[in-house]
Amino acid sequence: MGLFKNFVSQTRKPEGFLGKMMVNGMNGGHAQMADWGLSHLKTIAPEKIVELGCGGGRNAGALLEKYPFSKVTAVDYSEVSVGKATEYNKEMIKAGRCIVKQGDVSSLTLPEEEYDLATAFETIYFWPGLEKCFAQVAKVLKPGGVFMIVNESDGTDEASLKFEKMIEGMKCHTVEEIEAALKSAGFSKVKADHHKSKPWITVLAKK
Ligand SMILES: C[S@@+](CC[C@H](N)C(=O)[O-])C[C@H]1O[C@@H](n2cnc3c(N)ncnc32)[C@H](O)[C@@H]1O
Repeated sequence: MGLFKNFVSQTRKPEGFLGKMMVNGMNGGHAQMADWGLSHLKTIAPEKIVELGCGGGRNAGALLEKYPFSKVTAVDYSEVSVGKATEYNKEMIKAGRCIVKQGDVSSLTLPEEEYDLATAFETIYFWPGLEKCFAQVAKVLKPGGVFMIVNESDGTDEASLKFEKMIEGMKCHTVEEIEAALKSAGFSKVKADHHKSKPWITVLAKK
């Protein structure tokens, strides 16, 4: 595998030296888009949040800042991501407001009906079967809980489709595909927003 392909493939499951570099880059590189996504959360005051596919943990930190009375559980299946997210949120972990756990979204072992909000930034591209994984998210959300998905690809932009070809196991979904999978997984009130000038999307769903 060429070095560039190997490096970009680290987005799926960061591992080793290249994975560490990728995770460091993602914390900064996704911040603007993640904050645009977070700006859609206006009317809720979640106390228990689960941040899925947390990568380097920057967005778990942003959620803790946005909701000062919340506790965040950040989950990722990559050891490298878990390590970086733990380091990034070490003060909040010490303060008892954050837990970082290694785990796979396709078989979550978190308590059922526990969380008010679940978030997924730039990660569902890699989830093995949207419907199955969304059902896992529904399982851990309280009734009435909110699931927010934020992607920098709307499933049709050329740049992301190039990466899709290069990265094994990656799938860029359209809003329609995401909405259909959410509904099949038992979510209602699905609402999507498309950035006015970029291919960024935010999808909100209620359990
Ligand atoms: C492109 S990175 C995004 C990281 C972070 N959310 C961000 O926006 O910077 C994708 C992350 O999702 C994680 N991931 C992918 N599939 C996963 C799964 N099935 N379960 C848990 N984590 C997963 C990867 O390990 C990686 O850390």
